[in-house]
Amino acid sequence: LVAKEKVQGVLEVVNKKQDAFNDNDVDILTVLAAQAAIAVENTRLYQQADLINELVHELRTPLASMLTIAYLLKRSDLSNEQRQQFADSIAEEVSRLNDLASSYLEYSRLEAGRLTFSASTVDLGDLLQECCRILQPKAAEASIKLELSLPNHPLLIEADENKIKQVVINLLNNAIKYNHTGGEVNISAWGNDQIVSFSVQDTGVGIPESDLPHVFEKFFRAHNIQESYPGTGLGLSICNRIVEIHGGTISVQSQLKAGSTFTVELPVCVKDCL
Ligand SMILES: Nc1ncnc2c1ncn2[C@@H]1O[C@H](COP(=O)(O)OP(=O)(O)OP(=O)(O)O)[C@@H](O)[C@H]1O
Ligand SMILES: [Mg+2]
Repeated sequence: LVAKEKVQGVLEVVNKKQDAFNDNDVDILTVLAAQAAIAVENTRLYQQADLINELVHELRTPLASMLTIAYLLKRSDLSNEQRQQFADSIAEEVSRLNDLASSYLEYSRLEAGRLTFSASTVDLGDLLQECCRILQPKAAEASIKLELSLPNHPLLIEADENKIKQVVINLLNNAIKYNHTGGEVNISAWGNDQIVSFSVQDTGVGIPESDLPHVFEKFFRAHNIQESYPGTGLGLSICNRIVEIHGGTISVQSQLKAGSTFTVELPVCVKDCL
């Protein structure tokens, strides 16, 4: 299937009768393939336009707030302290835009299949330990206890180590961010010879029941969290896509004001997926 001089896909046609395809059949199939290729290309462009619309929509909020601050900064009666606060707000908004740009790039690359995954043998236990070490200072800063419990045997899987690490770090970041001072985050892992799983359980703010089906959608942020929790709403959709590409599943259970548990299941062998 060729459109705009690019191969869009392959059309395979099987003749269940004994006869070979004749020239007439080939002509009809060539026309059909050309039309199918255009349809595939149009769908791709439509999806891209959709993603761009959403991104522009998300850019509006930080841009509007920076514009307001810029007007306020022009006032001559501001104290040095107020000026400093406005400058800090601009820096915060710029950092939010920066996070949005990197997460969005990552998400759209994943969606377009433009990120390459390379599988190696990974011990999930070691990987979880390393992620806990990375997030320990952040948890300590919020007085949150991180606890990891692992079986006393290795949990080996074929996976892209960095991408799975990214999933774990995203889940741990959420479990710390949407938690209370003095709260807990418990990470555990288990597995058999076909599937390994891990869960990240927190004692945080929880997710309203009506929002639960949407948390893996891009840009979605639940209604119970205020602007005081910064975020782009892309972290979980990136996790979901990475786990999906590994042939696994990610799920969530949560109770409002009590906490949430995210569970990831991964097939031990992903050779057919990556
Ligand atoms: N552990 C959690 N506890 C409570 N709510 C959560 C938790 N994890 C995710 N959520 C809810 O799901 C939403 C989507 O999470 P996601 O990680 O995709 O985005 P984010 O944290 O808002 O931003 P970022 O893209 O920076 O991670 C969050 O905004 C929050 O409402
Ligand atoms: Mg997040």
